[in-house]
Amino acid sequence: MIKKTEFGYKIEGEKGFLNIIFYDNNIVRFAYSNDGEIPVSTPAIAVEPKDIECSQEGNIIKTKSLIIEIDKKNLQVSIFNKNGELLNRDISVDLEKCEIEKEIIWEKGFYGLGEKYGWLNKKGTETSNWNTDVMGIFPVHNATIKNYHTSIPFYIGLSKKLCYGIYFDNSFRTYFDLGKTKDNVLKFGADGGYLDYYFIYDDKVSEVVKAYTYLTGRMPLPRKDFLGYQQCRWSYENREELMEIAKRMRAENIPCDVLYLDIDYMKDYKVFTVDSDKFYEFKDMVSKLKGMGFKLVVIIDPGVKVEDGYWVYEQGKENDFYIKDKNGEVYIGEVWPGKAVFPDFLREKVRKWWGELHLRLIGDGVEGFWNDMNEPADFTTESKVVPEDTVHFNDQGEEKSHAEIHNLYGMLEAIATYEGVKRIKPNVRPFILTRAAFAGTQRYAALWTGDNTSIWEHLEASMPMFMNLGLSGYSFIGADVGGFIGDGNGELLTRWTQLGAFTPLFRNHSVKGSINQEPWCFGEEVLENTRKFIKIRYNFITYLYNLMRESSINGHPAIRPLFYHYQDDEETYNINDQFLFGENILICPITRPYTRVRMVYLPKGIWYDYWTLERFEGGRYIIKEAPIDSMPIFIKAGAIIPTDNVMQYIGEKEQEITINCYLGQDGEYTLYLDDGISFDYEKGKYTEIKFIMKDSEKEVSITSEVIKDGYKIPKMKLKILGLDENSKVIMNGEELKLDNENTIDIDKLNIDIKIIK
Ligand code: GLC
Repeated sequence: MIKKTEFGYKIEGEKGFLNIIFYDNNIVRFAYSNDGEIPVSTPAIAVEPKDIECSQEGNIIKTKSLIIEIDKKNLQVSIFNKNGELLNRDISVDLEKCEIEKEIIWEKGFYGLGEKYGWLNKKGTETSNWNTDVMGIFPVHNATIKNYHTSIPFYIGLSKKLCYGIYFDNSFRTYFDLGKTKDNVLKFGADGGYLDYYFIYDDKVSEVVKAYTYLTGRMPLPRKDFLGYQQCRWSYENREELMEIAKRMRAENIPCDVLYLDIDYMKDYKVFTVDSDKFYEFKDMVSKLKGMGFKLVVIIDPGVKVEDGYWVYEQGKENDFYIKDKNGEVYIGEVWPGKAVFPDFLREKVRKWWGELHLRLIGDGVEGFWNDMNEPADFTTESKVVPEDTVHFNDQGEEKSHAEIHNLYGMLEAIATYEGVKRIKPNVRPFILTRAAFAGTQRYAALWTGDNTSIWEHLEASMPMFMNLGLSGYSFIGADVGGFIGDGNGELLTRWTQLGAFTPLFRNHSVKGSINQEPWCFGEEVLENTRKFIKIRYNFITYLYNLMRESSINGHPAIRPLFYHYQDDEETYNINDQFLFGENILICPITRPYTRVRMVYLPKGIWYDYWTLERFEGGRYIIKEAPIDSMPIFIKAGAIIPTDNVMQYIGEKEQEITINCYLGQDGEYTLYLDDGISFDYEKGKYTEIKFIMKDSEKEVSITSEVIKDGYKIPKMKLKILGLDENSKVIMNGEELKLDNENTIDIDKLNIDIKIIK
């Protein structure tokens, strides 16, 4: 029997029920249960089902873009696009095991699954999701480890013509076999809960990501200054040390916006306290830092020290806010403060309380919060996380096993923190950095990839991880620059800073006991070369900010695999060591020691060498020199890219933007401007200027138009790149004499430039 329901259909099979529920024409949920009830979604799901046009005849259901054929007896489905091309077919559905097998038909690659080591293309591999403090168990992150700090049960199947995504909405431990055991069989399942997944179809991968982030939500627009360089260490131990770092940054002329305090700023690792001996007159210190242009972020771990009289512990105990053991007693584990208890963030009351606890630190001037150990880590267990048999209670008072909530814990903490901080300062965009996450956590926090090691292998491994995180909905991401565990060296830091300059979160961090890793720690040459790239980062701040805006609106990540824009070129499916930073900038880092040259794959089209403006025809590999002070970067002809004047920190000086027009192709770019910090943009206080470049055989025209005028426009210039010496440049009817740099002042923004070739 197939019955119409409010947003889809319900099918009764031999062993249970399948609910098909539409979230859009191309987003279909397949929710299985024994009793026909629709399972409760995890917090990953950010939208409601939609009433879309659909029809059913016999065992065929149709929407505008999909045809679903149902095997009623076994509750298996085959999904076709409207041209009748087979997209996906079930081999078996096992409700009892909560497991499904699907045929691998045309997929050339599988991608996504968030933060995982290994290569970009996950076809032929298997993995699982159980948020883990990896360093608690393994000495070094590597590709044989399956469980990392985050669980994002989402993958994409890709080919030239077809693409889809499958999001498995299950927070228990989930596992995926992407053609490892049998090369034409894909299997996924969970240790508990329901078989409840969403199939997202579009023939373009970028549209699949857009739809996936429609379903699970998009990152909020971040503060612009948090896109600046960030310096961290476990730990800057006292006020003097931190102030010294701040002064040195300025003295060495290294742009830097954010400094961090790791766990040692607290009194006995008690969260929401400050050790006032080491960090005396804390408020005064934070305000001095602010005066120098630094924002301060402090770490907050979820483990609350068990100590009579400690107000946080006592408040939580009094209100029964902690996770319980199986006997109903408060569960006591162990983290940095020794014996610790863990807030049960599943309940709104607990989240509100936690949020309010940030009041004091915010009052002291702290501007960001770093949520760590939120898998949640626990030193007392073999798994080094809070045990599965502990229990939570939801808002309805129902008991939930930790096995179900574990993977959500970091996200629930991020919700508590984001919402709490926003309630305290409603018109400032919160900055939250998290280690543990679930699908959808991008709505609340930026993410870093945990405890990497200062080895070249981890620099290299970060790229496929970033690209897969991007495909999994995360754009505001980064890794510890220089590597966290162990001692780095100058060359490694130089190369890592080069790559880091093009990751949205750009933070240098290192472990306690390791040698210092700030840019000046390895001599003059390293200082010069790292400073150079930190400055380049500041050149690209507005560009990156605009990418973040794009991520917040349509989910496109800043870091993209090449196939994001060149899906019809299969060569791009396995390129691990290059990425697109937005659509038109190709970043090709050096990730090996003593290496001064590398192969670069240029996708089809014309590419400019960023440094020399030499033009290359793409669709091939080229060999590129990469001296230690440089890294191959290419810009696509037709690109229009804003660059900024460099500052020591965002807001230090009046902003000046140069609009760089790379000739040789048509191009378009919308520049977005706002105050970079408040939510006023939601009330229309922003400006958008659209630039259009049309490149024909005889002439190029560049025009601009202010399409929204809600925020002040800075001083702007336009720069023409790739200009032939003999070309004439005419602006608003008059021929221009260009300076050496080929820049033009464009105070009047409705420009009309013609370049006669
Ligand atoms: C964890 C974090 C690391 C931090 C350390 C001390 O290992 O991943 O970044 O420095 O704890 O708080």
